[in-house]
Amino acid sequence: MCGIVGYCGSQSAVTPLIQALRHLEYRGYDSAGIALGVGGRLFVEKRAGKLANLESALDASPPLAHSGIGHTRWATHGGPSDHNAHPHVDNDGKLAVIHNGIIENYSELRVRLQSRGHTFSSETDTESVAHLLSDLRKEHQGDLAAAMRDAVKALRGSFTLVAIHADAPDVVVGVRRNSPLVVGLGDGENFLASDVAAFIDYTKRAIELGQDEVVRITPTTVEITDLGGRQIEPKEYEISWSPSAAQKGGFTHFMLKEIFEQPKAVADTLIGRLSDNKQIVLDDLQMSADQIRAIKKITVIACGTAYHAGMIAKYAIEKWAKIPVEVEIASEYRYRDPIIDVGTLILAISQSGETMDTLMALRHAKASGARVVAICNTNSSTIPREADAVLYTRAGPEIAVASTKALLTQMIAVYLIALHIAQVNGALNDRQVEELYNELLELPGKIQAILETVEPLRALTRSFAQNNIVLFLGRNIGYPVALEGALKLKELAYIHAEGFAGGELKHGPIALIDKGTPVIVILPVAHEDGLDEKMKSNIQEVKARGARVIVIAEEGAHIEGAEHIIRIPVAPALLQPVLATVPLQVFAYEMAVARGNDVDQPRNLAKSVTVE
Ligand code: F6R
Repeated sequence: MCGIVGYCGSQSAVTPLIQALRHLEYRGYDSAGIALGVGGRLFVEKRAGKLANLESALDASPPLAHSGIGHTRWATHGGPSDHNAHPHVDNDGKLAVIHNGIIENYSELRVRLQSRGHTFSSETDTESVAHLLSDLRKEHQGDLAAAMRDAVKALRGSFTLVAIHADAPDVVVGVRRNSPLVVGLGDGENFLASDVAAFIDYTKRAIELGQDEVVRITPTTVEITDLGGRQIEPKEYEISWSPSAAQKGGFTHFMLKEIFEQPKAVADTLIGRLSDNKQIVLDDLQMSADQIRAIKKITVIACGTAYHAGMIAKYAIEKWAKIPVEVEIASEYRYRDPIIDVGTLILAISQSGETMDTLMALRHAKASGARVVAICNTNSSTIPREADAVLYTRAGPEIAVASTKALLTQMIAVYLIALHIAQVNGALNDRQVEELYNELLELPGKIQAILETVEPLRALTRSFAQNNIVLFLGRNIGYPVALEGALKLKELAYIHAEGFAGGELKHGPIALIDKGTPVIVILPVAHEDGLDEKMKSNIQEVKARGARVIVIAEEGAHIEGAEHIIRIPVAPALLQPVLATVPLQVFAYEMAVARGNDVDQPRNLAKSVTVE
């Protein structure tokens, strides 16, 4: 939440700052602003609303400066307005600061600073830092990095801060605690940013900053220190994403592009996972066979869409590996004294690797002695760095706020983990594992087939655009798919959407059904357990009460009572979510377009939820 960038170099700073903010806007779009160091004074421009408002304000004639900071905001303290927009400036008008996160003790700081004569012009928690830094910089004879080190000691909460001072415009200083900050190493220019997408157009060399580390950049130097001022040797790495991955590539929206990238994302996540002697290769877990055999319980911690991948992990691991799995909403986990022992393995699932709720749950689990494996899409982000091991999904950058390709690759990751454990602990034999693995390999082609026949679904969706409620029904592994379909629709179409387990229908939710209520049913794969038949009864029950029924069903399944049937290719029951999710993504996308909503940046949301 909130995108941050700092720049020092030879370019006119407005250009790389605005370019970076375009790539960071998915992190928040309540306001945007920049501050430039221009010969002994600061130039500050900030506007409520999307980045476009700031860009128009800058059109007149932005001053020439070679350093600056920029921010795109997801509001926490203080509503989205011009005066609450970042950067925030001290009373001398010379020091500017931007912030991602929450300063928990901001009100006591504010009172203390006001009693020292500082006047405030916003309702934000961030402004306190501008005034605090201003005082500390004076105490440190103009050394902004030293001031930042002291400021952090006085702050509680989670934050990334980046600051600039007009008297030393070639210097930009940043710090991170629990929120992300990366350094981009250019040729005669350097960057600080919330993520690498901000500067990927300029450099692929990066440094990840550690917890409570302060960084000071100039056009040619990068110095990192801990809070005691001791130098830290930077660990440089090469960014593997290409700049084109952060472009729309001819699609109208990033979300649509990312939906269509799913066959490749799934295929990439599967590459190299079965050895010649038919063993699932997951060295990434860094667990010996004995350690795997000692697992007594698995707990998945995740939020939102990633939580739905966690629910799928439960079905797959319990079925294949015969190990009990709990799935926990990360924000609830640490507050209820979970039972954790040496036999507990934690799976932390996160696309961004920065979700604060998941990070805090991970820390709690580690502190209680559990081993934590992360499933993550973002290299070197905080969750994988703090986990004991990480299995990276290979979805590439996901820019649209609504998660699509990351989810499908998370599902693949949990299937691989389930198969690996099952093979090691003997719950499945090598032949069974190989058969299931071969089914996984078929999935990219099947997703592609769904995408090639998606046009009628898009047209159908538009006929539902005026509905203000849509219900989703699933059973067994189709239940998380129903929840995901509803979540996507809520966040994109802004309508009431709920997912239910089909069996729960008669225990209350059926009262919601009225004449014309759309109900989307994920029909289970036909199986001797008769689940599909039970769901067919649910179809009749909702139809009898006037619902318009849309069924997602595998090719060949016989269905009565549906107004529309969306066919998906045949796959083993446990793998069906990878396919059944895709039409629901398209449905939510098309509804958002038809209702005139901002698909890539839905209201009130942000891509990385870096506050609790
Ligand atoms: C929904 C969505 C969110 C995220 C959730 C967790 O489309 O994107 O629900 O899934 O905020 O984010 P990560 O996976 O980054 O931890």
